Amino acid sequence: MPEQPRLASDAPADPAALLAVALEAARAAAAVIREATPRVRDIVWTEKRATDFVSEVDLGAEQAIFSVVRRTLPHASFLSEETAATIEPERQRTGTVFVIDPLDGTTNFLHGYPEYAVSIGVLVNGVLAAGVVLDVPADECFTATAGGGATLNGVPIHVSGITNPQRALFGTGFPFVRHEEIAPYLTQLGRVMAGASGVRRAGAAALDLASVACGRFEGFWEIRLSPWDIAAGLLIVREAGGIATTLDGAECPVARTGIVAGSGAMHAWLLRTVNGG
Ligand code: IPD
Ligand code: CA
Ligand code: CA
Repeated sequence: MPEQPRLASDAPADPAALLAVALEAARAAAAVIREATPRVRDIVWTEKRATDFVSEVDLGAEQAIFSVVRRTLPHASFLSEETAATIEPERQRTGTVFVIDPLDGTTNFLHGYPEYAVSIGVLVNGVLAAGVVLDVPADECFTATAGGGATLNGVPIHVSGITNPQRALFGTGFPFVRHEEIAPYLTQLGRVMAGASGVRRAGAAALDLASVACGRFEGFWEIRLSPWDIAAGLLIVREAGGIATTLDGAECPVARTGIVAGSGAMHAWLLRTVNGG
């Protein structure tokens, strides 16, 4: 766990400046991931728990992000999947906090399946100010700043205008650690499959949310995600005109939670359908 700075009151609050730092950090992490890609078959993985892996690449990418942020914003705190995965609630609500998934889609990466990303969301006094999701194989960069809209490679993006679920494509994530969640999840999946045009499980939640933001997916749901999976994607979806809630319909927090995201119309349909309405 990296040493956290004392709580700082002089946190820079300019979302554009924070996005610039997050972007530089995401690019540094992407360079670590790209450098390792040709030797992916030789990379050593270890199990954090059954079916949940970490590799030297996740750790190297995380360190690259820490270095950039520490150099530019020494007072910032971290909530980061591999070595800073807990933060006191008071600290998460105070000053600048970088919420980091250094490699979202580790299993895909380790198998050479080209669907993985770096995800960095920035909280200022507990509120999302900036976010970046960098799709490493596709070199697509999704960004957002609070009140400043969302972009893909610098071009503004918006959620889909499709309002008929039978024409809609949804993303989802499978429960892969807690097997007791499989049966209830399959009930949800069956309901969505019966009403939608299609459902995809691509394997990187940050990219699933980015796909909602740019209109490739009309919606996305998953029953359990971590704050680093969703921090950046939440802001990108909202700034692209979408909605993201918990499975109960409450505003989705940057926390361990289930999520339902989509355009206005498709979020309402997906939330209702997942819940059996
Ligand atoms: C995982 C991916 C996956 C989702 C899991 C996440 P990781 O993140 O986002 O799509 O289904 O819940 O844990 O472990 O590859 O960073
Ligand atoms: Ca993740
Ligand atoms: Ca990860």
